[in-house]
Amino acid sequence: LYGDRLRTAVGAYVQRDPFSRLRQRPGRVDPYPVYEHIRARGGWVGTRLGNLATVDHAACDQILRSRRFGVRPEGESGADETGGLSFLNENPPDHGRLRRLAAPAFGARQVAGYRPRIERVVAELLDRAGSRFDLVDDLAAPLPIAVITELLGIPDADATAFAAYGEVVGSALGGIRSLGHARALMRANADLEQIFERLVEERRRRPADDLVSRLAAAEGDALRPGELVPMCTLLLIAGFETTVNLIGNAVGALLDHPDQWALLCEDPSQAGRAAAETLRFDPPVQRTARVSFDEVEVAGRPVASHQVVHVLLGGANRDPAVFTEPDRFDLTRPDAGEHLAFGSGAHHCLGRPLAELEAEIALRVLAERLPRLRRAGPVRLRPATLIRGPLHLPVAA
Ligand code: HEM
Repeated sequence: LYGDRLRTAVGAYVQRDPFSRLRQRPGRVDPYPVYEHIRARGGWVGTRLGNLATVDHAACDQILRSRRFGVRPEGESGADETGGLSFLNENPPDHGRLRRLAAPAFGARQVAGYRPRIERVVAELLDRAGSRFDLVDDLAAPLPIAVITELLGIPDADATAFAAYGEVVGSALGGIRSLGHARALMRANADLEQIFERLVEERRRRPADDLVSRLAAAEGDALRPGELVPMCTLLLIAGFETTVNLIGNAVGALLDHPDQWALLCEDPSQAGRAAAETLRFDPPVQRTARVSFDEVEVAGRPVASHQVVHVLLGGANRDPAVFTEPDRFDLTRPDAGEHLAFGSGAHHCLGRPLAELEAEIALRVLAERLPRLRRAGPVRLRPATLIRGPLHLPVAA
C-alpha cells in the first residue's frame, strides 16, 4: 500500500513538473517523449522551481535572439568569477568584447584550412582502429581533441586525460549529481587552469602561431587579467565535448536506420546532410536557458520580468510546425537546416563551421572505408542531462 501511495505521489509530481523528468533516468535515456508531453500541453510548462520550459521552435528562436533576455540577470557580471565559461556566461557588452577576440580563429576561411589536417587524423585513427572498435574512444573523441588542442596550441596533448576532463566538465553543465561528482569537477577545473596558466606564461615569453599566443598578445584593454584562462577552458570544452557527441549520435542514428546508412555509402558526398540531420534529430546540446530582463511577450505569450526560461533545443528540433514528420531520421529532408542545435542569436555557436567540418569528414570517410559498419555491443550513454551522446559505441566493420 505504501509503495502504491508513493508511486501515485511521484506520478502526480511528474505530471506537475514534466521538466524534472529530463533529469531522471528514463528522460535521460530518451528525452523525446517528454518533449512531446510538453508540446501536448501547449509547448510550455512551469517547473517546480518556478521557471518555465518551452519546446516551441518559434518561442525558442525568439528568446535566443531577443535583447530582452540574457544569460544572467541584467547588470550582473561574471567577469571575476573563477571556473566560469567566459563569454558563454556573459551579457553585452562583455560578451561581444570577449567573443570578438576569439572569433577570427573560427571564420569560414580559417576553418577550411583545417580540412587536410582533419582528413589525416581521421585516416590515422581508422588505420589504428582495426575491424572491431569503440566508435567513441577510437574516433569520435580523439578527433576533436586533436583539432582543438592544436588550434589552441597545447603541445603533446594527452587525448585520454582531455577526454576525462571533457566528460567531467560536460556532465556538470546539466547539474552536479553527487559530492564525488563535485570533487571530480573541482579537480578537472584545477588541472585545466594549471595547464592553461603554464601555456599562457610560455606563449607570453615565446609567441607561436596559435590562438593562445594571439589572445595573450591582446591582454590589456580588450582582455583583462583573469579572463584569458576561462576563455581557453570554454574553447577547449565547447570544442570537443559537443563534437564527440555529434559524431557518436550520427553513427548511432545511421546504424539504427540501415536505409539511411546505405544512402550515405552509395554517395558519401552526402555526409554534410547526415551531420545536419543528426543535429536536428538528436542534438548534442539538448537545452540552454535565459532570463528575461523585463516583462516581454514571446510567441504571443506574456513572460514576467526576471523569469528563467529553459530553451529545450532538442524539443524545438521536433516541432511539427517547422519539420514534416519530425520523428523520422531522413538525410534527404529539405528542412533539416532549420534546427536550433547551435542555438541562435548573439550566443550562436562560434565553433559551428569547425564542428560541421569535423563531422562531415568523419562520416564521409567512415562511409567510404567501412560500408559494412554495424553495432557490435550495447551502447552506453553519457550520464549527463544537458549534453547527450554515447560514452561507448562498440562497432564492427
Ligand atoms: C555556443 C552547440 C561545437 C564553441 C554554443 C551554443 C550551442 C552550441 C547550443 C549556444 C549556447 C547558448 O546559447 O546558451 C554546439 C554543438 C557543437 C558545438 C552542438 C558540435 C556539434 C563547438 C566547437 C567550438 C564551439 C567545435 C569551438 C571550438 C562555442 C562557443 C560558444 C558556443 C565559444 C559560446 C558562444 C557565445 O556565447 O557567444 N555551442 N557547439 N562549439 N560554442 Fe558550440
